[in-house]
Amino acid sequence: MIMIENPSLWVATAASSRYSPLGRDREVDVAIVGAGITGLTAGLVLARAGKRVAILESRHVASGVTGFTTAHLTQAVDARYRVLASRFGAEGARTVAESTKHAIDRIEAFVAELGIACDFARVPGYLYTEREADVRELEEELEAARNAGIAVNLVRDVPLPFATAAAVRFDGQAQFHIGKYAEALATAAVSAGCEIFEMTHVSEVIEGETCELVTEGGKVRASHVIFATNSPLTRTFVQTKIHSYRSYAIAFPAKNDVPAALYWDTDDPYHYTRTVDVDGGRYLIVGGEDHKTGHDEDTEKRYAALLAYAQTRFAVSDVAYRWSAQVLEPVDGLPYIGATPHAANVFVATGYSGTGMTFGTLAGEILSDHILGRENAYAELYAATRVKLSTIAHYVAENVDTSKFMVTDRLRGGDVGSIDEVRPGEGKLVSVDGKKLAVYRTDSGEVRACSAVCPHLGCIVHFNSAEKTWDCPCHGSRFDTQGTVLHGPSLTGLARAEAVDDQEPTLEAAL
Ligand SMILES: Cc1cc2nc3c(=O)[nH]c(=O)nc-3n(C[C@H](O)[C@H](O)[C@H](O)COP(=O)(O)OP(=O)(O)OC[C@H]3O[C@@H](n4cnc5c(N)ncnc54)[C@H](O)[C@@H]3O)c2cc1C
Ligand code: FES
Repeated sequence: MIMIENPSLWVATAASSRYSPLGRDREVDVAIVGAGITGLTAGLVLARAGKRVAILESRHVASGVTGFTTAHLTQAVDARYRVLASRFGAEGARTVAESTKHAIDRIEAFVAELGIACDFARVPGYLYTEREADVRELEEELEAARNAGIAVNLVRDVPLPFATAAAVRFDGQAQFHIGKYAEALATAAVSAGCEIFEMTHVSEVIEGETCELVTEGGKVRASHVIFATNSPLTRTFVQTKIHSYRSYAIAFPAKNDVPAALYWDTDDPYHYTRTVDVDGGRYLIVGGEDHKTGHDEDTEKRYAALLAYAQTRFAVSDVAYRWSAQVLEPVDGLPYIGATPHAANVFVATGYSGTGMTFGTLAGEILSDHILGRENAYAELYAATRVKLSTIAHYVAENVDTSKFMVTDRLRGGDVGSIDEVRPGEGKLVSVDGKKLAVYRTDSGEVRACSAVCPHLGCIVHFNSAEKTWDCPCHGSRFDTQGTVLHGPSLTGLARAEAVDDQEPTLEAAL
């Protein structure tokens, strides 16, 4: 059983149903891997359309990034409309504005139709700056967003309790409690005939006219497969077009001095703030401090920086919840949603940046329409097979970074000379018999040792000190200290090393 060590506010404050693991072989029309917002939306739409659908989930509903979000619902995409217009043309930028509005409206319609008590509320969004020098940048974004058809205004008066220079105000945005929403989507999907299997990890996918998904509890045969896994599993072509970052969030008990709205600043990486009323209390949620996954071992300092940012701007002190998870950045600024290049019946949905609540909802609909043979006005823009020549330089730079880790990490020695040097609570790389081990010592002194070689494409994992996980710097796979895979693209965990008669652990899987 995988335990969630740092539950988010959403995970901690939503009731959760439990669904049984897969116990026997199944034959369905559509197999969906992953029960986050993408998989649940697709499961509900497809089951309502009469398809036989099975959702296979390694852990629990919304236990992936969906449960570790901050749940802003916005048209203000991370890539900015000015940039999107230059890459995708005026028509492309308009389609992004229209499709993200459609996604927020879609969520609102589900909430109304299903009577979901998830505190959905329409609120304004403020893209603000604290620096006069950045106001020009805001003016440009104002014009680009307006050209894309969004209701925006430049305001000098931002309802934040600290000095700001100006903001672009996006009207008609929204917020909700994602834990409660996801739970209700799962219930509605099951009522419509969709099966959900939790604690059902897909360890192998055999593609063909009928695909076969292998799990410990049986095989699922399906004519269509959707990888709603945040990071697409085994799809190397898409994998090179997305890059994995960790983003951090802290929820503080708060007073009523910050009006309910969405706030994002112009820093890079940017900070994002909202409030939420839950269980009779108000919380302020502040997020940010993103960095490439596996590129910074001292992740505690990211929380410390976020805490300092919040404490110098808001009247907050105690931390109620803190969490972090993966944000996947696409090289050209838009997500990849659709069929894969070599298999028309295998679909991916990934690269949502920091707006995966809306893009995940959109993806659920787009992929369902593909499978149902329905036209979808947004499908072409987001097609997973696209390559934007204008972003080739960025593509190459990001992948050179990955190649560098593949080579240099393999050549360098361990962090310490022997396992004895790993202190309680620490994770270190240790070379034993020429093989690199990822060694963690628990607070009570127990040693856990695994191969440090990521099963995806062979990079060396790095320790994440705040979350006590092994994170891969190449494509963002993550593993717990026992080696169990927590986040793809790797389908399998790190090979375990066994200690025999008090000797150093040894490993069959060679580096
Ligand atoms: C800190 C933070 C703040 C964010 N804030 C916002 C925000 O304010 N607004 C917004 O729109 N977006 C935000 N995002 C982004 C958004 O949360 C994500 O993009 C979105 O939740 C992704 O949903 P998903 O369904 O694609 O993936 P997930 O929710 O990650 O679902 C994938 C599921 O697949 C399962 N899985 C993976 N591999 C397998 C396997 N082999 N077998 C079976 N199951 C498997 C996982 O267990 C997981 O449950 C934020 C992200 C972070 C990290
Ligand atoms: S995630 Fe690709 S090599 Fe580790």
